Amino acid sequence: MEVAASAAGGGGAKSPDDIIAGHCNACHGTGLLGSPKIGDAADWGKRGKEQGGLDGLLAKAITGINAMPPKGTCSDCSDAELKATISKMSGLK
Ligand code: HEC
Repeated sequence: MEVAASAAGGGGAKSPDDIIAGHCNACHGTGLLGSPKIGDAADWGKRGKEQGGLDGLLAKAITGINAMPPKGTCSDCSDAELKATISKMSGLK
């Protein structure tokens, strides 16, 4: 069965774009509350260094940090979905 990996719909894997639109963009779209802005390579790069790369950032995103809520409010996101989302927002691989 071929199902396009995208968009709206319950159940299936969520794409980074869906997760960003539904959750992360509320803060990270504008840098609200001091969050690193989507696509701000300098801010994300610094954070990536501090946390030891994408996996370190993922760990912080899961637990939350300061004003950053646990899982960025996407409580039903898997770790893999969050990781792909952080990669997309930060440009880090
Ligand atoms: C309510 C606002 C808010 C939402 C929603 C939000 N974030 Fe954040 N996020 C923040 C703030 C604020 C920070 C900066 C925290 C700090 O360094 O003090 C942050 C930082 C981060 C960091 C960097 C952590 C670090 O160690 O520097 C990652 C990764 C992250 N967010 C991922 C996400 C993801 C993925 C989502 C969506 C699933 C998301 N955030 C949704 C507010 C938010």
